[in-house]
Amino acid sequence: TWTPENIIDEQVARIRAQVGDKEVICGLSGGVDSAVAAALVHRAVGDQLTCVFVDHGLLRAGEAEQVEKDYVAATGIKLKVVDAADRFLDALAGVTDPEQKRKIIGREFIRVFEAAAREIASHGDVEFLVQGTLYPDVVESGGGPGTANIKSHHNVGGLPEDLKFALVEPLRTLFKDEVRTLGLQLGLPEAMVWRHPFPGPGLAIRIVGAVDRERLDLLRQADFIARQELSAAGLDRDVWQFPVVLLADVRSVGVQGDGRSYGHPVVLRPVSSEDAMTADWSRLPYDVIARISTRITNEVAEVNRVVLDVTSKPPGTIEWE
Ligand code: XMP
Repeated sequence: TWTPENIIDEQVARIRAQVGDKEVICGLSGGVDSAVAAALVHRAVGDQLTCVFVDHGLLRAGEAEQVEKDYVAATGIKLKVVDAADRFLDALAGVTDPEQKRKIIGREFIRVFEAAAREIASHGDVEFLVQGTLYPDVVESGGGPGTANIKSHHNVGGLPEDLKFALVEPLRTLFKDEVRTLGLQLGLPEAMVWRHPFPGPGLAIRIVGAVDRERLDLLRQADFIARQELSAAGLDRDVWQFPVVLLADVRSVGVQGDGRSYGHPVVLRPVSSEDAMTADWSRLPYDVIARISTRITNEVAEVNRVVLDVTSKPPGTIEWE
């Protein structure tokens, strides 16, 4: 029978058998999946685990600080923070194809983990990499029975072929709601467990078009406003996640102040879902949508139009890329 205690015991035993007395690293994203995977591995092998948080420059406002502070405070896990923004942004320069972006990001993550592992290793090599891969990630990357590749999740189909780490993926058969239950059972704080999912490739797959610092900065501001207003309205738990997307290669004519503007649209994509395999667009109150729209067009230079995505999944996916 499925109880969180059973799953934890079973996974802890498996992790110990796989890892033995070797050192392990875990890529922490700030999201619930990698946090729970790390907590499980920590329970299994304690200080043999070091978590690595990669700041790839594609994060939302405040995210890096949150991981550095909250996660360590909650778990006592050893954490190494790597600032890799230049490296990721250089590798992504000019790239517009979504699968290409995902593969570049998957590869760069591994290269950063390899470098971090060399620094962390106190004896021999770090052979194991923990990832918070869930069952839906595997299915959508074409790894499940009879499934097509819809998109290559950066930590599954986006991994480089010459990967030297053995993967430790204790959540690979689980869905998000189960992972949240495990997280609570493992003592992670509610705020961490109930965070909205955020994809490893970050804001790169929420900019339709090439990614650069300026565009990231625009999107970060718009995203921050949307999150702030959703929370202020007390609606965080009413939506599964709330991507905000910048259509960086589209411009439309507007009128702002006394004059004509010719700026970019931003898409609001709030969705409701059980497991991200299917989703529906969230019927957020119009006054909340209106506040977000007014604030984004007033506060974010270069954005003069806000649109609402009213597509379910299928046929749309949650993310635009
Ligand atoms: P889609 O866009 O396929 O997204 O409907 C389903 C869920 O997965 C997240 N997502 C990702 N998460 N790496 C991740 O860690 C990825 O490459 C990736 N692509 C999508 C997405 O945010 C949603 O929760």
